[in-house]
Amino acid sequence: MVTWVLHYLLVAFLIAISYNIDAASAGITRHYQFDIQLKNITRLCKTKTIVTVNGKFPGPKVTAREGDNLQIKVVNHVSNNISIHWHGIRQLRSGWADGPSYVTQCPIRTGQSYVYNFTVTGQRGTLWWHAHIQWMRATVYGPLIILPKLHQPYPFPKPYKQVPIIFGEWFNADPQAVLQQALQTGAGPNASDAHTFNGLPGPLYNCSTKDTYKLMVKPGKTYLLRLINAALNDELFFTIANHTLTVVEADACYVKPFQTNTVLLGPGQTTNVLLKTKPIYPNATFYMLARPYFTGQGIIDNTTVAGILQYQHHSKSSKNLSIIKPSLPPINSTSYAANFTKMFRSLASSTFPANVPKTVDKKYFFTVGLGTNPCPKNQTCQGPTNTTKFAASINNVSFILPNKTSLLQSYFVGKSNNVFMTDFPTGPIFPFNYTGTPPNNTMVSRGTKVVVLKYNTTVELVLQGTSILGIEAHPIHLHGFNFYVVGQGFGNFNPARDPKQYNLVDPVERNTINVPSGGWVAIRFLADNPGVWLMHCHIEIHLSWGLTMAWVVLDGDLPNQKLLPPPSDFPKC
Ligand code: C2O
Repeated sequence: MVTWVLHYLLVAFLIAISYNIDAASAGITRHYQFDIQLKNITRLCKTKTIVTVNGKFPGPKVTAREGDNLQIKVVNHVSNNISIHWHGIRQLRSGWADGPSYVTQCPIRTGQSYVYNFTVTGQRGTLWWHAHIQWMRATVYGPLIILPKLHQPYPFPKPYKQVPIIFGEWFNADPQAVLQQALQTGAGPNASDAHTFNGLPGPLYNCSTKDTYKLMVKPGKTYLLRLINAALNDELFFTIANHTLTVVEADACYVKPFQTNTVLLGPGQTTNVLLKTKPIYPNATFYMLARPYFTGQGIIDNTTVAGILQYQHHSKSSKNLSIIKPSLPPINSTSYAANFTKMFRSLASSTFPANVPKTVDKKYFFTVGLGTNPCPKNQTCQGPTNTTKFAASINNVSFILPNKTSLLQSYFVGKSNNVFMTDFPTGPIFPFNYTGTPPNNTMVSRGTKVVVLKYNTTVELVLQGTSILGIEAHPIHLHGFNFYVVGQGFGNFNPARDPKQYNLVDPVERNTINVPSGGWVAIRFLADNPGVWLMHCHIEIHLSWGLTMAWVVLDGDLPNQKLLPPPSDFPKC
């Protein structure tokens, strides 16, 4: 009898334990293998060899649930060095898996492999992954979808289907060569030849009608489109003819739903929209289009990618259906961009609160924009003048990546001295009228400088665009954190006037925010993730020109506030 009772108690105890684990929702481990390999692919009538993951372009979709552990083995079979960044994943204490080359790791060399091992904590939504070395991400990218925990609903009507649409930029030339040429001559890079939806340029380009992305839908259903801008250098407007989109999420953070005809995404940004299809079968098909938003002075690819939204109909063939074409805002419509950006608000519900820091420990003011480097002696350059090369900077510091080790490794072993300096300026050294007439001297300084933050510091950062070599929007991406966008405006930030207008109630939470063309944006975040975290403009040429810096977040006192040690297969430098 006693044994029976004991046995009963034991069983009850074990059940209770497993329920507790369930309640804490320990996820599962999901394994993926990424073989980095070459693949011949034909677009715009030209066949070329590109670097891919598993021979796929775009790369494979990675799916996980909130709480899951991901172990993605990357094996490099090509001659280029590679590393993969899991864009938007917070990497709590697992900064070794973040991916930017020479920031958190040295690249994976030919014949080597590395398992990116991280757990998705407190996040769900649309993110993506991409190569993070030079311009390799031109072809090495794909969706990273985080579903809510099992039995946890979306805060919007359950979609009938979910469809990732990843926007890209296609170069007939080798993107790495385009970059090398630009850095060598000092000129702006050659423009890409097409934009793409899921790798397909569509019918508005030469010999691409067969390479058209088609979204087949049924009438009267709600589709969740997971939009991702993986383009290298172009912000993109996106619209679907005769259909209204409801925005429900940005950068894997839910937002208060709002309707729009046209969405704008900077490179790096993701947006989930609900597409409610027409209640009855329409006698037409509909173009979806994407085309850049651009206010800068360089040459960009201003072409339009088209895909087709088509209603399935069991009896009618689609052959003779007319195609309805939408219109897009003008290419330089900063007013559209500003009005659209203002629509984003956090859900700020009890389940998904907006934990915006109400008080601030540290304030920073960073100017972001273009500038110049001198042309080397005995060379003629093609920068803004023939004696200069294009450059870009934050607070006039143009960032130089280390090339023999990574920032995180040198920090971790306590040998930062000859790798980076900790004196990144908290504000511009020479204040000027940032959005007015630019100064005569546009030269940048060069360096590898970081800001060091104590664990749990609340940070407010104002990012101020400059007019040096032209005003332009800069989609600034912060690794390792989401931040809240508490304010934005045009012209110069005014510290006396503007903070009074901050939204501390339901500001949008994201990982990439546009600094408006000729304006500023203010963000706040809590530095609760120890490690070294890159922050940069996600326009790839701006990053290549140095528009980046890094935050070092120190360990906290408690054991669970410390960066974990590097994994045993960590790439050697
Ligand atoms: Cu999506 Cu540092 O990048």
